[in-house]
Amino acid sequence: MRLEKYQSIIGGRLKHSGHDYVELANQYGTPLYIFDEASFRERILAYREAVKSTYFETDVLFASKALLTKAVARIIAELDIGQDVVSAGEIYTGVRHGVDPKRMYFHGNNKLNKEIRYAIDNRVGTIVVDNRMEVERISKIAAEFETKQRVLLRLNPGVEAHTHEYIMTANLDSKFGESVFDPEIYNIIQSMVVSPHLEFAGFHSHIGSQIFEADSFYKAASELLTFSAEVQKRLGILISEINFGGGFGVYYTQEDQPFDVIDFLPDFMEYVHQEAQALAIDLKKVTIEPGRSLVNASGSTLYEVGDLKHTASGKDYAFVDGSMNDNIRPALYQAKYEALAVNKADKPQEKVYTIAGKACESGDKIIEEIKLPILETGDLLLVNGTGAYNYSMASNYNRIPRPAMIHVNDEKHYLTVKRESFEEMSLREI
Ligand SMILES: Cc1ncc(COP(=O)(O)O)c(C=O)c1O
Repeated sequence: MRLEKYQSIIGGRLKHSGHDYVELANQYGTPLYIFDEASFRERILAYREAVKSTYFETDVLFASKALLTKAVARIIAELDIGQDVVSAGEIYTGVRHGVDPKRMYFHGNNKLNKEIRYAIDNRVGTIVVDNRMEVERISKIAAEFETKQRVLLRLNPGVEAHTHEYIMTANLDSKFGESVFDPEIYNIIQSMVVSPHLEFAGFHSHIGSQIFEADSFYKAASELLTFSAEVQKRLGILISEINFGGGFGVYYTQEDQPFDVIDFLPDFMEYVHQEAQALAIDLKKVTIEPGRSLVNASGSTLYEVGDLKHTASGKDYAFVDGSMNDNIRPALYQAKYEALAVNKADKPQEKVYTIAGKACESGDKIIEEIKLPILETGDLLLVNGTGAYNYSMASNYNRIPRPAMIHVNDEKHYLTVKRESFEEMSLREI
């Protein structure tokens, strides 16, 4: 397993900022989400700096679908970045824990009327309109509040990013956004411009997730800016903001070769400025919405090994006390991970195991075939790169309680999510 900068092997054991994972397991139990707060904070500050431009205002909006807890919301608020939200629940958590609603961008196809009401009532700064029917619904609700709601339109620029089909969102039959190639597109924009209850500011696009080619972002930017210039010409309006979404790829295994986002952002912002200037677009604001790349490398999951099984066909399973309940990604889109036996960190990796969870699904495998030291019941296995879309997608399938989460911030570690009890799992049931 590739170690993160906060991880080191000392005396045959893996440590997190000097803390022994075995001791963390003894104190907090397993399975356990472990989140390195220090590197998360560092990355936020680095993104904030890298995105700055002298030409226009910029903002980093954390795509909170990747990971949102009260503690994470408090960090977003403290470090003064915006929040991408996709539900009233995400708005609620952000607002309740200090995120400035003006810095929120509300996304999603089929936002419910009650969610739009909730957003406007809570003064969410920008709603990103997904489709033509939503224009009317948002206008009507803004009228009820006697307000003018700032909006962007989510565009689908048709740029294909090489990524898994399920997370490719800008292809032409995507469920998200309106296509720049749709013959109705100018009418849709016009309907936003003329609404007395909408303040149309510009466009948004998110071309997919886990993208490894920086070129895809340049291509999308070029398409969006060219389209913006055409809109300005045809409709006689000004485009003042473009939000380029998230999707920066991250490392899970050796197959992944992400580019350095911190190096990329200043060049990208310069490119956006140059292109916009050439096309006479007076951009006032440029925003990005990273989720995975801000949190993933800070998160890992610690499991205890239970039974070991050697099948008749010769496959070796190591069963762990977690499951697809705490990490659905391998079952959902064949996601791959690396792992390390933290109490045998310096032992030779001599046996191939499939790491399987305890849920009643054949697809409940966390890692298909990984070389590890000879495992025994009670060993502790750490899976890195689980910061994004693990906790936020967790479920109670099989009535399995969701794990606890701790934050590690250099010398301190503390609980941010309690382990779920049986009683808590059935609290809403009558
Ligand atoms: C609109 C939008 N913005 C941002 C993101 C965050 O993407 P990522 O976590 O890959 O950075 C997503 C993810 O699906 C998205 O749909």
